[in-house]
Amino acid sequence: MEIKHVIKSQQFTPEILFDLFKRADELRKNSDEILKGKVLATLFYEPSTRTRLSFESAMLKMGGNIISTENAKEFSSAIKGESIEDSIRVISSYVDVIVLRHYEEGTAEKASKVSKVPIINAGDGKGQHPTQALLDVYTIYREIGRLDNLKIVMTGDLASGRTIRSLCYLLSKFKGNEIIFISPDSLKIGQDIKDYLLRKKVEFNEETDLNKILPEVDVIYMTRIQKERICSEDYEKSKGKYVINSDNLNLIKSNSIIMHPLPHVEEINLPIDIEENDKRVAYFRQAENGLYIRMALLDLILKD
Ligand code: CP
Repeated sequence: MEIKHVIKSQQFTPEILFDLFKRADELRKNSDEILKGKVLATLFYEPSTRTRLSFESAMLKMGGNIISTENAKEFSSAIKGESIEDSIRVISSYVDVIVLRHYEEGTAEKASKVSKVPIINAGDGKGQHPTQALLDVYTIYREIGRLDNLKIVMTGDLASGRTIRSLCYLLSKFKGNEIIFISPDSLKIGQDIKDYLLRKKVEFNEETDLNKILPEVDVIYMTRIQKERICSEDYEKSKGKYVINSDNLNLIKSNSIIMHPLPHVEEINLPIDIEENDKRVAYFRQAENGLYIRMALLDLILKD
């Protein structure tokens, strides 16, 4: 199936996902120069470490080139009042693909309407982060060996967490999954996601006690309380409420995994070198998987 723009995770069928996983595994071993002559633009209106740099590295490893504006809000002509449509219309005549992160939900879709080349949504405000969801399911598949019949707890800022939203949509494509949402009161999962899960017959619950749930789940998906998206009162009430640390780590099954889209702050309070001694700690492998799944995605979109 052809994919032009990547705007939301619902676009991906299980068949495309497994093709991407296979290609990512191949590209992990050998990337050659399959995108030689192609140019990728990263256009980021919000900060990023992993998404921008892994897309850029992916392109370079496959022999392509990149042009980049890492702080487009200030250092592009947006500051002079240029519309996103005009910017995209122009940039799309310079490159073969645009990776766009923007602070407003719906911007990637808006960009796709005027772009001459594929737009990849690298996060649009509180909307979606579909390539994060791709690397998340790729990680679950590599670590646990299946994407169905999983019990997953998702914690943190579920109200404005775009990684959570995109992952829920992808997990809904597989049978027998059960999702448990745990969040501070002011940051609960939105009704739109609950309605979607109901329509797709995905079992879900909202709980309050993380330690009670930890022994039951296959995947612990932690997320950050997003200081930049909520008022300071909500932030102060919510930060540090749900944490994985050395006290509750022992509640987690030996074959379960702890994931996090990163960056993390106090919700994960474990030493950085724990990854070497405890295979349940999967979030750095998860971030690395982002490179290979993004290579596979660029290959899928740009191959002639
Ligand atoms: N997970 C993620 O999107 O990280 P960055 O904000 O660093 O890109």
